[in-house]
Amino acid sequence: MKYHIVTYGCQMNLHESEKIAGVLRGEGYTEPSSAEEADIIVFNTCCIRENAENHVFGNLGALKKLKRQKKGLIIAVGGCMVREEGKAALLCERFPFIDILFGTHDLSALGELIRRKRAERKKIVSVRGEREETEDGIMPVRTSYPNAWVNIMYGCNNFCSYCIVPYVRGRERSRRAEDVMEEVRALVREGYREITLLGQNVDSYRDGGVAFPELLERVAQVEGDFRVRFMTSHPKDFTEELIAVMKRNPKVCNHLHLPVQSGSNRILSLMNRRYTREKYLAELELLRREIPDCAVTTDIIVGFPTETEEEFRETLSLVEEADFASAFTFIYSPRTGTKAAALDGRVPDEVSKERLARLIELVNEQTRRKSAQYTGKTVEILCEDRDEKKGLYLGRDQYGRMGYFESATDAVGAFVQLRIDRANGISLYGTECGRR
Ligand code: 5AD
Ligand code: SF4
Repeated sequence: MKYHIVTYGCQMNLHESEKIAGVLRGEGYTEPSSAEEADIIVFNTCCIRENAENHVFGNLGALKKLKRQKKGLIIAVGGCMVREEGKAALLCERFPFIDILFGTHDLSALGELIRRKRAERKKIVSVRGEREETEDGIMPVRTSYPNAWVNIMYGCNNFCSYCIVPYVRGRERSRRAEDVMEEVRALVREGYREITLLGQNVDSYRDGGVAFPELLERVAQVEGDFRVRFMTSHPKDFTEELIAVMKRNPKVCNHLHLPVQSGSNRILSLMNRRYTREKYLAELELLRREIPDCAVTTDIIVGFPTETEEEFRETLSLVEEADFASAFTFIYSPRTGTKAAALDGRVPDEVSKERLARLIELVNEQTRRKSAQYTGKTVEILCEDRDEKKGLYLGRDQYGRMGYFESATDAVGAFVQLRIDRANGISLYGTECGRR
């Protein structure tokens, strides 16, 4: 029996889909396949912005035909959207052919839901469970070699006013440090070359006396040839201790994903971010004093309710000052139930779009300028994959920058030294000149 999983959203979801695959294997679905050939199709959804939801709605509609053609095909929908107020009911109404709805808390229960579905032949909805687990005991089917994602915590307590995550993923729960360590040691033994520690807000990690910097250091001191990344950090929780751990542990990538969201103090306060522009910039200064080559990436929202042109320009000037390696940029999207959704002063769509375009242009220009400086230099990348269309291998350096190169032998999983010949936008093209 074959399975097909469709994933929307962040790395947390990508990793959860690996766990979903693990559950499916346990239920006798042995092979991934196309949607047409699958016996079960699972959608792992995202609801962070409206367009993420629109994608899900659009693509679910297309399954109706498959369902009609194939008797016994099971369609399961899980992930963040399912736990959003009122969405499960809406999904049932619009897509009556869905067999199973399950929330993000229910991964370990998914197997049982599938068995029930096969036995009872009626719709199964399990959306708001009592359990908010930290250890699911599921063996993921990893699909991202040489990288392995490792959850260190789940949920979020920050309640940024625009964000739906705390509502759909619940309160913060940290995994036991020893369980994280055991997973990391096993992954390194299996040959994974990059460990990415995942949490909505890694700085809030705590297991008894072990806070995040200590956990990171323990992971970085595991024997073996690998590197460590982590995300996401919150500027309000930024500590010198974290910088010190990054600095003294060569296995930790010199990269920090530190979402700033806005450059205006009034907007930051309305967003409930609990830091100011000045504090954020001071943190970057401190970081770069200690680790001068540290790449900083960020997330930025434009068109938050009541944002003025002047305030948007403060975001532009912050981007100029902060010198980000790259930035994910978004138009504010109201999410039902969040504080911001109740605010007056919606910024018209055309204004938001125009602001986004200006912001992207600035970010791209900075990224291009940075890429150009790489020409002639040597960087070390971890080779991740082969781009068949380009006929080139590709990977990322510790800063997250993508490098392409030719190789006669399989390079996936190797740390490769590249001499950079040219840059194109954010991508670098180079010639292999050695391996670690
Ligand atoms: N509208 C637009 N962007 C959002 N993000 C989170 N919620 C919203 C929203 N309602 C962005 C933030 C966050 C990233 C993961 O998604 O920038 O850091
Ligand atoms: Fe959402 Fe803020 Fe939590 Fe990030 S820190 S998940 S933006 S509430």
